[in-house]
Amino acid sequence: NEKPQSPKQSVGPDYRPEKQKPTATVSTEVSFDNVHILPQTPQLIALLTMIRDKNTDRADFIFYSNRIIRLLVEEGLNHLPVVEHTVTTPVGRTYAGVMFQGKICGVSIMRAGEAMEQGLRDCCRSVRIGKILIQRDEETSQPKLFYDKLPEDIADRWVLLLDPMFATGGSAAMAVEVLKSRGVPEDRILFLNLIASPEGVANFCKKFPKLRVVTAFIDQGLDEKNYIIPGLGDFGDRFYTM
Ligand code: PRP
Ligand code: URA
Repeated sequence: NEKPQSPKQSVGPDYRPEKQKPTATVSTEVSFDNVHILPQTPQLIALLTMIRDKNTDRADFIFYSNRIIRLLVEEGLNHLPVVEHTVTTPVGRTYAGVMFQGKICGVSIMRAGEAMEQGLRDCCRSVRIGKILIQRDEETSQPKLFYDKLPEDIADRWVLLLDPMFATGGSAAMAVEVLKSRGVPEDRILFLNLIASPEGVANFCKKFPKLRVVTAFIDQGLDEKNYIIPGLGDFGDRFYTM
């Protein structure tokens, strides 16, 4: 069950000579237009290196995960529609800018997805947040839906769906079905996650071609227990209990 190796690439700004840049494993590319991978900058790779390290303690795991989550939220917000908006500056000149138009909400897939809520709140004050409790069966890797509580007007909102780990894609697909059953159109859902597997992304994108995925990294694949490899282990355990 040999997986294709993830690409290695020199990491650093373009102006720096190649031989002065270290090489690192970077995200696998995928050919789906609706998947956006964060730029593989030295910062992002260093943050991912910290959270992937099995020797990173819980406090550091939380701190560095939160920094990546912030990058994901900022990038996710770029995919929301804006309209032209001109303002007058304190020196009496105008600036032709844009502003977001529309309503949003976050929806976290519990438990690990709740770790991304604060990053969303840091960018969108008083954002409404719904919850869907889905747990993956440890033996079969099949997702099971236990509970959901979503804003009543969710069908009128853009939804930022939050879950750090995107392995088989089963949990995320189940969450999307819940959102669609409440009237949220697929093209108004943005799924934000830290690490994805190529097979999870492929299955999911074929099923939901209009939904946008924003991820920090597409990894090499899945192991025999459907854990992402090289991955970072169990995100929920490392963030909440280890
Ligand atoms: C993890 C993770 C995702 C899911 C990913 O949650 O947070 O929800 O597994 O796997 P999948 O893509 O194969 O469905 P888990 O069910 O382990 O619960 P947790 O959040 O409590 O850790
Ligand atoms: N859930 C996790 O937390 N990690 C994985 O690698 C897969 C599912």
